Amino acid sequence: MKAIAFYKYGNPDELKLVELKMPEPKATEILVRLHATAVNSGDIRLRKADPFAVRFMLGLFTPKIHVLGSVFSGTVVRVGSQVKQFKVGDNIFGSSDLKFGTYAQYKCFSEHESIAIKPENVSHQEAAAIPFGACTALYFLRKVNIVKGQKILIYGATGAVGTAAIQLARYYGAHVTAVCSKNNADLAYSLGADKVVDYKSEDWINSSEQFDIVYDTVNKFELSKIKKILKSDGTMILGAADLKVMLLSSISSVFSSVKVKFGMIKHNQSVMEFIGTLIKDGHLRPVIDKMYELEQMSEAHQYVELGHKKGNVVINIGD
Ligand SMILES: NC(=O)c1ccc[n+]([C@@H]2O[C@H](COP(=O)([O-])OP(=O)(O)OC[C@H]3O[C@@H](n4cnc5c(N)ncnc54)[C@H](OP(=O)(O)O)[C@@H]3O)[C@@H](O)[C@H]2O)c1
Repeated sequence: MKAIAFYKYGNPDELKLVELKMPEPKATEILVRLHATAVNSGDIRLRKADPFAVRFMLGLFTPKIHVLGSVFSGTVVRVGSQVKQFKVGDNIFGSSDLKFGTYAQYKCFSEHESIAIKPENVSHQEAAAIPFGACTALYFLRKVNIVKGQKILIYGATGAVGTAAIQLARYYGAHVTAVCSKNNADLAYSLGADKVVDYKSEDWINSSEQFDIVYDTVNKFELSKIKKILKSDGTMILGAADLKVMLLSSISSVFSSVKVKFGMIKHNQSVMEFIGTLIKDGHLRPVIDKMYELEQMSEAHQYVELGHKKGNVVINIGD
């Protein structure tokens, strides 16, 4: 099978088109023909081993996992003898989480992983654009128990996580203020934002408006500014916080009634099933910025690394 593999940490040219052995499903596994995957912001960090901590997960000197990619949409082509939930021909989508391996034509999954039946109202390419942002945003919005009528500000509102966060916050009935660049205002409104603010203009920080929840999806919003616009008993979600931001925000929360949430999200199958229902019912739609072929993976990485994609960058793997 064709796959994109890397054997050294580094620039996008380290991603090579290779021929690998077909994976064999175990008794409890399904073999999936992947039709699409996506390049996410996290993939860039893994490829570059930046931050250094990536090396503790993938390999200290060289990567021990060679095929990256964590989201997919595809068709079940074989099932192990003990598989109960899926059958050959099922169209499924989801996340391989920290097992990676979706930059490839085929991959085996345990039937209990973070996978679900793909809703029929989206294509494989559209379905692959959803799990990364939706699983992340849903994890954090559930963690803060978002409820109807709350005011949420989403910073970095037009990336993969931000575009999902706008739609999910609206689904839960919150009043959404989206912060993004001026060029992306229409996109944010089209996803359901009630108000859109340009992050390059500073004036809005000085307004008297206060929020129940401030969700910084991209780790670009200074803590002092978040505190300024957060209600005294509000919650900040620091979805992309680095160690320094985690430490500083934790310390400052000890001295105030503000709550802070950060950390690695957890994937599971019921979350993917719920996301499938939201797509089917029209509450969540894919946002695709660009689409590349598997052979163009290094080009896709170059684009995502610029840090300004709108929603998602999808990789078509074919039939
Ligand atoms: N905690 C977890 O377990 C977890 C899980 C998944 C992801 N994450 C993290 O979540 C983060 C967001 O991921 P993503 O895929 O959504 O990122 P992304 O798609 O690459 O984000 C791009 C967006 O960020 C905006 N942006 C860039 N610079 C900005 C700035 N200075 N101020 C405000 N917005 C700015 C861009 O808007 P413009 O083009 O308009 O500038 C663009 O829409 C990543 O750091 C990722 O590692 C964490």
